[in-house]
Parts: sequence; structure tokens; C-alpha cells
Amino acid sequence: MQTVHTIAELRTHVSGWRRAGERVALVPTMGNLHRGHIHLVERARAQAPRTVASIFVNPTQFGPKEDFAGYPRTLAEDSRQLEAAGLDLLFAPSVAEMYPRPLETMTQVSVPELSGILCGASRPIHFRGVATVVSKLFNMAQPDIALFGEKDWQQLMVIRRLVADLDFPIEIIGVPTVREIDGLAMSSRNGYLTPAERAIAPALYATLLASAEQLRAGGRDYEQVAADANARLADAGFRPDYFAIRRADDLQPPGEDDRDLRILAAAWLGRARLIDNIAVG
Ligand code: PAF
Repeated sequence: MQTVHTIAELRTHVSGWRRAGERVALVPTMGNLHRGHIHLVERARAQAPRTVASIFVNPTQFGPKEDFAGYPRTLAEDSRQLEAAGLDLLFAPSVAEMYPRPLETMTQVSVPELSGILCGASRPIHFRGVATVVSKLFNMAQPDIALFGEKDWQQLMVIRRLVADLDFPIEIIGVPTVREIDGLAMSSRNGYLTPAERAIAPALYATLLASAEQLRAGGRDYEQVAADANARLADAGFRPDYFAIRRADDLQPPGEDDRDLRILAAAWLGRARLIDNIAVG
């Protein structure tokens, strides 16, 4: 595995592969890798002979009071895991390489319909930052496919939409969430949990499962299902942010005939804001 820090080096590698007719897969990350990320790399390797991962803690997707400064940066350990997973190329740019001018003067990408709701309601600039950095990474790496975890379902929908709207010739592959044995979705932010909070954390997925069961059994009072779930989370010790039943693709409230639904939730546990979701289809 080679590690590069500049866009020029990344392009040199990728264009060599492209000239040789090799497909390229991209796995964008912010580092502090866990098994979920490594699973993305494994899936990427199964789909393309050349795999690139990026590690970049993207300042534009963190709000002013969020954890950008404290976000764990573990490049040496991440590199070791990626190399063991058989990655070809790691792109680990600096902030100056990605954003050479003051952030507020740079072009940004926004996906309006999907960005102000759910997580976007409490993190107003988040998805614009994600859409911007992912668009830049797509232009830099020019992959044939790019893989994202389904744990952040809203992010996956934002990225699918930007790819459609901006005509990127890239196939977006969503990869099912990798979970701990007790159901907790793997996340870099799980590391913020104290042992007591870690013991409570699986209740988020358990609540999603219970709500999905209610819907499968014919429950159609979505507001009541969400209210029950929020009460259950609060009882367990969470500070719920939202719990919502939405159409899976455009994340709008479902109509009576909609069947392809997703339940999405975010809740605080101490200093960790956990998100998770589940299909109901
Ligand atoms: O999911 C993440 O880790 C980030 O939001 C992403 C997609 C790498 C963009 O910074």
C-alpha cells in the first residue's frame, strides 16, 4: 500500500490504473477506523481491482460547537489496518491541500431537499460539508465506484442525490451496517462512551427493531410509534434528538401507500451523538 498526501500524486496513481483499463473503487473516511470501515474496503476489493481510501477529517462538516478539534486522529494505526486489508492507495491530504483558500470563500455543494431535515435539523451545515468534500474527492480520484456505510443512511441518500444531480459517472454502493455483538452500530464516536453509557447504547438498535416490528404488524400511526420509541430511549438514559419513519429514498414523511420505509434515529448518550437506522420494507 502506498500513502500519498497530494492531489497530484493521487491523480498520477489513478490515471496509471485507468490507462491500464483497471476499475477503481473509492472508500472515503475520516479515519479512526473500525471493522465497519475495513468491511467497506473488503467490499471495494471484491468489486474493483484497484482500491483507494481517503482519510480526511473534514472541517466543513462540523458545526462550530462540534467535535472537530477532538475528533480522534489515528493515522498510523489506520494505515496498518488498511494495509492488512489489502488496500492499494491511501490518500491522506492536509486541510490546506483540500481547502487552499479560506473556507468561507470556497465553492460549496448543497443538496437542499435532503440536508435540512433529520440530522440536518440539528446540524445545519453538516450535509453541505459532506456533499462538498465528497464531490471534491470524486473529482480528485475519479473512481468508477464509491462505497459508503448504511449507518449514516441520510448521508448515503445525500450522496446518491448529488451524484444524480451533478452527473458524476460513479456507482454509489451502500454497505449494510456492521454491528457489535449486542447490536450497537460500529462508529468512531462509540469511543466517546463511558463503560456505563456503552452498556446502555445497544438500546438504540433494540428500539429501532421494536418499532420496525410494530410497523410490520400493521401499525400505521407513525407519530405514536415515534413517540413510544422516544419515551423508551429517554427511559434507557438517552437524550433523543429525533426518531422518524420516512420514505427510504427521499426521506420525506410516508403516504398511506408507501411501503419502502426507513426508521432513522439520533440520540445523545453523554458526549456521544449516536445515529442508527433500519429498513422496513
Ligand atoms: O462518513 C464519513 O466518514 C464522512 O462523512 C465522509 C463521507 C468521509 C465525508 O467526510
